[in-house]
Amino acid sequence: MLHASLTVDPAFRVAEVNPRLFGSLVEHMGRCVYTGIYEPGHPQADEDGLRRDVLALVREMGVTTVRYPGGNFVSGFRWEDSVGPVDERPQRLDLAWHSTETNAFGLHEFRTWTEKAGIEPMMAVNLGTRGVAEALDLLEYCNHPGGTALSDQRRANGAKDPFGIRMWCLGNEMDGPWQTGHKTAAEYGRLAAETARAMRQIDNRLELVACGSSSSSMPTFGSWEATVLEHAYDQVDYISCHAYYEEWDGDLASFLASGAELDQFIDDIVATADHVRAKLRKKKRINLSFDEWNVWYLSRFQQEEVPTDWAVAPRVTEDEYNVADAVVVGGLLISLLRHSDRVTAACIAQLVNVIAPIRSEPGGPSWRQTTFHPFAQAARHARGTVLRVEPVAPVYDTKRSGEVPVIDAVATHISGAEGEDGDELTVFAVNRHLSDTTELSVDLRAFPGYRLVEHSVLSDPDVRAVNTEQQPDRVRPHLAEPGSLDGGRLVVRLPAVSWNVIRLRPVG
Ligand code: AHR
Repeated sequence: MLHASLTVDPAFRVAEVNPRLFGSLVEHMGRCVYTGIYEPGHPQADEDGLRRDVLALVREMGVTTVRYPGGNFVSGFRWEDSVGPVDERPQRLDLAWHSTETNAFGLHEFRTWTEKAGIEPMMAVNLGTRGVAEALDLLEYCNHPGGTALSDQRRANGAKDPFGIRMWCLGNEMDGPWQTGHKTAAEYGRLAAETARAMRQIDNRLELVACGSSSSSMPTFGSWEATVLEHAYDQVDYISCHAYYEEWDGDLASFLASGAELDQFIDDIVATADHVRAKLRKKKRINLSFDEWNVWYLSRFQQEEVPTDWAVAPRVTEDEYNVADAVVVGGLLISLLRHSDRVTAACIAQLVNVIAPIRSEPGGPSWRQTTFHPFAQAARHARGTVLRVEPVAPVYDTKRSGEVPVIDAVATHISGAEGEDGDELTVFAVNRHLSDTTELSVDLRAFPGYRLVEHSVLSDPDVRAVNTEQQPDRVRPHLAEPGSLDGGRLVVRLPAVSWNVIRLRPVG
């Protein structure tokens, strides 16, 4: 048994929990949209062809914002194809994923889906094959009330009210050579600045996101962000970040420490953005929109042959997640929460079927992957203020991140006055040790009179266990063995390779 401790104190405030931290990505990729969220003819489809079973899971997951329509897909997207009568919409080649896009699901269908799901839409504009004019057209179509050609076209297409989309991504991963219309940092920085300037002429309240690096392994990581921000600092609010993690060569110890890699990624980009701020002598700070993050077995996907049949909604990168993957997702959520003073938006990528917490079968059922659970629990219980907790824990050695504490944790606190559900203190913690339970001692003296409501744990003797269509609930959180609380000291046990949610409330 290992031993660790941490202190929870309202004085260790990071920031308020920003609901936008619990966003996701819906891309026209594989079966995320078609047979994912949308499947007319499915027994569960509603009058709009939206799958009710998937909608219910999306709501349960607590997703707050959804970035759309990509991803790499957006760099070839002609938004005009996706509006108007469905049977008149053109089929197009999607160069990003070598498939055929039918455009049966488009802007209005997306808007309907977000309304039904209670989600804030976040739109990306195509800065790959297109530029300023088309971004303006899309903005006018979506957000202008009426009385112009494009806004009246929207109204004629059935949406009298503007979509009111506030957050806009200026392209996607433009640093990647795979991106249609790939650019250098200087080329993109200029284009992003000009597009943002023009979009702000329509609406100065928009929140605009410039593309950062597509991953921290890109050779231009850091310098890309600096150059882009030197061009676009005044015009944008966020720099986007993307990171996918996987277990390399069976090195589970390093994989479980992915949260430490994410910590460093965030610190590096915050430093880069603040360096540009100093250089340009600006007051405003640029925040991070971590609008693609997840576990993704990308190296397997990259080994697959590029499809040549241009299929409609083929099965692409439908990773099946195990217990360890869920613990990593929990660790990534802890890192994002801990940085919520600067990471003010984030999207798990993606939502359904494609590297996704939700799976669905055409004509068949939908179910929760293991990774659904840490996300849903964090989205539900991370409320109020994020508190830094600084665990003191034994370290273990990893190839990728060096020595890493076995425990990582963060806490949130909502006072009774703030929340509908009353006062609650929640500690989110992962035990990354491969074999040992860790006894965690939590100093709660700054929260006198709180009692343990629930300690939920996701762990399994088989860290490779997964949820499948046949066994959809093989892996799910369960109640931990009861902890003890005495003299302001809570003691709980965190099993090896586990994600834990420890909830406390004042007595009475
Ligand atoms: O989410 C899958 C892909 O990963 C996205 O399309 C792209 O932005 C990233 O490389």
